Amino acid sequence: MEKIRVNLKISEDKSYDILIGEDLLRRLPWEIKESGLAYKFAIVTDSTVENLYGTALLEEFERAGLETRIIAFPAGEKQKNRETKALIEDRMLEHRFGRDSAVVALGGGVVGDMAGYVAATYTRGIPYIQVPTTLVACVDSSIGGKTAVDTPHGKNLIGAFHQPWRVYMDVNTLLTLNEREIREGLAEVIKYGVIRDGGLFSFLEQNLDSVFSYDKGTLTRIIKRGCEIKGEVVEKDERESNLRKILNFGHTIGHAVENLSGYKITHGEAISIGMAAEGKIAVNMGLWKEEELGRLTRLLTGAGLPTSMPEYMNIQDIIDTMKLDKKSRGGKIEMVLPETIGRMAESGGSYGLKTDESLIRDAV
Ligand SMILES: NC(=O)c1ccc[n+]([C@@H]2O[C@H](COP(=O)([O-])OP(=O)(O)OC[C@H]3O[C@@H](n4cnc5c(N)ncnc54)[C@H](O)[C@@H]3O)[C@@H](O)[C@H]2O)c1
Ligand SMILES: [Zn+2]
Repeated sequence: MEKIRVNLKISEDKSYDILIGEDLLRRLPWEIKESGLAYKFAIVTDSTVENLYGTALLEEFERAGLETRIIAFPAGEKQKNRETKALIEDRMLEHRFGRDSAVVALGGGVVGDMAGYVAATYTRGIPYIQVPTTLVACVDSSIGGKTAVDTPHGKNLIGAFHQPWRVYMDVNTLLTLNEREIREGLAEVIKYGVIRDGGLFSFLEQNLDSVFSYDKGTLTRIIKRGCEIKGEVVEKDERESNLRKILNFGHTIGHAVENLSGYKITHGEAISIGMAAEGKIAVNMGLWKEEELGRLTRLLTGAGLPTSMPEYMNIQDIIDTMKLDKKSRGGKIEMVLPETIGRMAESGGSYGLKTDESLIRDAV
């Protein structure tokens, strides 16, 4: 027998900058041009964002003398699938996009996840720039490098890790969001407060009004802190071996609720219910103080988010759904639970705590 070893210990610098400010859409093409990142650009977006910002961005790319095409698909989670991915790829192939191209993901999390996944596999991987235009995308989906599409068997099941080359967050684009979309992002920001930053949590308690009046300074501040927290967590644990699990607070129960509602309950609403329920479990386990759970439910309610389980949902269904989740391990339900506002509990060096079904039943 002959044996040949292929040594592949690749250490690669995948660091990138997140820029937050006003009028960044206008700067973006010129900065990209100067960087020499690529020679041909595909702005991938959805129908809503195309009308609001896509056309103007395309014109700016053209003014900068960059060869650019815009590829838009109908807005909505329903389009985040393999078929849409193939359509985008086919358009790029028809227009002879090669390895010297880059993707610009302009839109919310649906666009970011899909365009990022296209970039991850197009000619085995090309760079992409995240240009998030929803609060969810700014504080969550555009950072961390997780890209994916949904399948009939579940959400985000097919995807890749692919870090963006840079992230441009233009806060002016957030002014056209409706309140419901602000709430969706706010649910994740509240989560960041609980898992990592008591100061952010208090800030939100005192400034909910200015969030909902779209005050740019307030939005910038919570986005910046959200990015710092997610960035730091991902930096320390890109592949979710331990620390990154804390980002799942509220999501273990939340995902089950979202799923069982047939996605009628939005992700933000579901994780709000999930945070309240998981918080209750933490209190019942003696890990967390009841009064802090009270602060959390008051903040969620103040943000217009629900904190109790819908009547029609059955506990056994919730538990069964949680067991099927890709985050459960060997049939045991793992949760991350707070110890205090700003810090999560650890046991045996792990943030993932095995939680008894009986505790879940009681809390739910
Ligand atoms: N990759 C990750 O780590 C990660 C993290 C969180 C969420 N996600 C994914 O993100 C998606 C949800 O993101 P989302 O809430 O941004 O959804 P979305 O992309 O569907 O955007 C919500 C709606 O807002 C519209 N919109 C976008 N920007 C707008 C603007 N500036 N003004 C007015 N309307 C605008 C969109 O057209 C859409 O109709 C889900 O698919 C979820 O799985 C991914
Ligand atoms: Zn989430």
